[in-house]
Amino acid sequence: MVDCDPQANATAGLGFDPSTFGKNMYDVFMGGIDEFPKVMIQDIIRKTASGIDLAPSHLDLVGAEPYLYHAKFPTGVLSEALASVKKQYSLIFIDTPPSIGQFVINGLYAADHVIVTLDSGSFALNGVSTLSTIFSDIKDDLGKEILPEMAIVSRWGEGLLQPCLSPKTGEKKDIFTKLRDIFYKPTEPAPEDLKAAEELRHEQERLLTTLNVIRRRFPSVYTVPYSPAVYEAQKRGMPISHFAPDSPAGIAYKTIAEEVMRWK
Ligand SMILES: Nc1ncnc2c1ncn2[C@@H]1O[C@H](COP(=O)(O)OP(=O)(O)OP(=O)(O)O)[C@@H](O)[C@H]1O
Ligand SMILES: [Mg+2]
Repeated sequence: MVDCDPQANATAGLGFDPSTFGKNMYDVFMGGIDEFPKVMIQDIIRKTASGIDLAPSHLDLVGAEPYLYHAKFPTGVLSEALASVKKQYSLIFIDTPPSIGQFVINGLYAADHVIVTLDSGSFALNGVSTLSTIFSDIKDDLGKEILPEMAIVSRWGEGLLQPCLSPKTGEKKDIFTKLRDIFYKPTEPAPEDLKAAEELRHEQERLLTTLNVIRRRFPSVYTVPYSPAVYEAQKRGMPISHFAPDSPAGIAYKTIAEEVMRWK
């Protein structure tokens, strides 16, 4: 796991404290610039409890980005750094920041395959067309076309609407549960409940429409159901595969992993 996001969530998620003093991806990226000492990626790799080798990130990584423009070939710094360890691993994951910049460009250039992750909470049709624009812009930068093979829509089915139906049903519920709550009550639904139901149906329709657009654009699309186990796993610094493999999200990620393992 190569963490190229200064937020270092992949690092923390594997149980490694990102504030730890030590060499990290900052040093590897800076080492790609002539005036700085070269740091080999194997010198920063740590073993983590789940057996995944980690090239950790650190908030410092933010500072490396402007320097990267001074490299001879800014786009290829990560790719060059990975060349020396590529043969040792059957799979190398590169986690990038959520917004476009040198780290995303470097990740895309180094990668053989691309997975796009989307959050169903901020999942919108205009986001899908933004993605296409981004990939065609990147094509000009990289000189290679990016064809993401997989989209993963996370937190699928989480109670997305605010406010919730009534103080009593204040906890987060998925859309189907909320609709059932409204219509399977012994009393007539109140007008505000009907309005809320209408809004939920709307939201559900929006999600399904967006999902259909996504399915036309990516060869492979998965939704990962909302599951508190994901958050718990992150807090404990364990992958979901180890923390809660049988949770709804754990099962979904196993299916996804099986497909990824078939990639060549
Ligand atoms: N299926 C899920 N069920 C519940 N919570 C989830 C699920 N997937 C992600 N989350 C939660 O949503 C948040 C964002 O998850 P994500 O994996 O996108 O993190 P991230 O990579 O740190 O975000 P980003 O890089 O987009 O800033 C995390 O707090 C995570 O615990
Ligand atoms: Mg991320």
